[in-house]
Amino acid sequence: MAGRRGALIVLEGMDRAGKTTQCRKLVAALLESGQRAELLRFPERSTEIGKLLSSYLEKKSNMEDHTVHLLFSANRWEQVPLIKEKLSQGITLVVDRYAFSGVAFTSAKENFSIDWCKQPDVGLPKPDLILFLQLNSLEAAKRGDFGTERYENSAFQEKALQCFCQLMKDDSLNWKTIDASQSIEDLHKEIYSLSEETIQMARDTPIGELWK
Ligand SMILES: Nc1ncnc2c1ncn2[C@@H]1O[C@H](COP(=O)(O)OP(=O)(O)OP(=O)(O)O)[C@@H](O)[C@H]1O
Ligand SMILES: [Mg+2]
Repeated sequence: MAGRRGALIVLEGMDRAGKTTQCRKLVAALLESGQRAELLRFPERSTEIGKLLSSYLEKKSNMEDHTVHLLFSANRWEQVPLIKEKLSQGITLVVDRYAFSGVAFTSAKENFSIDWCKQPDVGLPKPDLILFLQLNSLEAAKRGDFGTERYENSAFQEKALQCFCQLMKDDSLNWKTIDASQSIEDLHKEIYSLSEETIQMARDTPIGELWK
């Protein structure tokens, strides 16, 4: 096989679980150790689709629920050429939220099945590792109030969590649940060690297709 590919590592979890903090620390630590790594986030708000989503999340605009779900998915698909290119160059990608958040947040709305919500993301690059940062709502509350964006309220988050639990039952994916109530440093050590194992494991295997 030509060249060794990078790993696709996704961090998921409820609001304020520490995803962004840990993604940044992981990329910094990988770079520090001489490995190639980059950070991605979803939604990627800088693209045209991303701007529509940002405005929706900030409640500056409204959109029909199916439409917005498809746009969140499209916002991931538009990054796929870049994701594949980086991985094939041997760059490990650390991703702050991915399709799982997309499915969890739409299926928390009335009348959306998990199955329907998954379909637009079928075939996306399959993560080599999905770290679910688990934090109960009491602990999350200690980290500050909810923000003002759409979806940032406890009833909605609770419903989304139920959906994450369903998605985590899928044995074809490499889910690891992490206790996010630990200190930032302890959490980082655990995440770094799991990521190192994944990077070794992913090197010589082709990237998979999600939910296929
Ligand atoms: N392990 C930790 N212990 C205590 N506080 C933490 C920990 N990790 C992060 N925090 C703090 O909690 C807040 C939320 O962290 P962060 O933004 O990383 O979470 P997030 O999962 O990315 O949230 P969101 O879903 O809203 O983007 C920040 O103020 C951060 O400094
Ligand atoms: Mg964040």
